[in-house]
Amino acid sequence: MAKRSLLVTGASGQLGGEVVRRLVARGGDDVIIAGSREVGKLAGLDGVTPRRVDFDDDEATLQAAFEGVDRALIISTDALDRPGRRAEQHLRAIRAAKAAGVKHLLYTSLAKAADDSAIPIAQDHVLTERALAASGLGHTVLRNNLYAEVLVGAVGHAVSSGQLITARGEGAIAYVTRSDCARAAAAALASSFDGQRVLEITGPEAVTGDQIAAMLTELSGRPVAHLPVPVEAYVQGLVQAGLPEPYAQVYASFEVAAARGELGEASGAVEALSGEAATPLRVALAGALKG
Ligand SMILES: NC(=O)c1ccc[n+]([C@@H]2O[C@H](COP(=O)([O-])OP(=O)(O)OC[C@H]3O[C@@H](n4cnc5c(N)ncnc54)[C@H](OP(=O)(O)O)[C@@H]3O)[C@@H](O)[C@H]2O)c1
Repeated sequence: MAKRSLLVTGASGQLGGEVVRRLVARGGDDVIIAGSREVGKLAGLDGVTPRRVDFDDDEATLQAAFEGVDRALIISTDALDRPGRRAEQHLRAIRAAKAAGVKHLLYTSLAKAADDSAIPIAQDHVLTERALAASGLGHTVLRNNLYAEVLVGAVGHAVSSGQLITARGEGAIAYVTRSDCARAAAAALASSFDGQRVLEITGPEAVTGDQIAAMLTELSGRPVAHLPVPVEAYVQGLVQAGLPEPYAQVYASFEVAAARGELGEASGAVEALSGEAATPLRVALAGALKG
């Protein structure tokens, strides 16, 4: 295979950093370009070409950042301060990549991104996916389900209080570890796929609140019960615990989406892309409770 240049944006982030490390570990002839708003933050990444990539730059500067790149992974940003800002960033990146001659774009979207998603921040992903489709470029949309790490952050409290409080009712979530998302993204970026596809990136199974409580009970040796509450009470609880209200609303929207079944589809995409099965949630929880 001819030598290619593979770019990962957001390479100083948690997901981007792991994608880059995995690409380097694969070896081979591909040139790995690690892109970040601040190249100084890439000092810990060996075997890569660092490059400044900031979606807030003007289009000519951003186009230069994509020059000479064959395939690029656009990692969705964390700019949630203003509705629609992320979509503007991503659309600018797609236009710049196309103008620079990138052949295949990959993008980290969200599970079941759709106009009628219960998750307001999914709209940035919907607009970005639409722009990718309209670009005519080859592309791979990686619709990451909720990170298992999002749940792991809450299990300490659930175990100590004996209550796993959710607002998802009987809804299930196909949690996926960030590491599995990185593995799938690295494999897709390094592949030769040049068509257009949308993949749901999930854990191996969707789990309900009752099932998670049972796992926590078994793993911790302490009884944990699932306590489903109305969404208003859920938001109030998070705010009382110190979370700013806008963030509490984002987390609550995940609960509503789960209750509606929007996060409950488990796919085999992680294994199909990377050759290794996705990590069961139980394994991720066991690691968190041990550590
Ligand atoms: N599925 C889920 O449960 C879940 C949870 C949290 C977040 N996410 C999404 O997944 C993304 C990656 O997750 P993560 O865990 O790696 O988050 P993270 O560590 O917070 O990373 C945020 C990323 O946004 C990039 N970024 C911010 N502003 C940018 C700009 N102007 N131009 C280019 N890149 C910019 C950062 O890149 P540099 O700093 O290197 O420029 C960094 O890679 C997040 O940004 C968010 O969109 C998904």
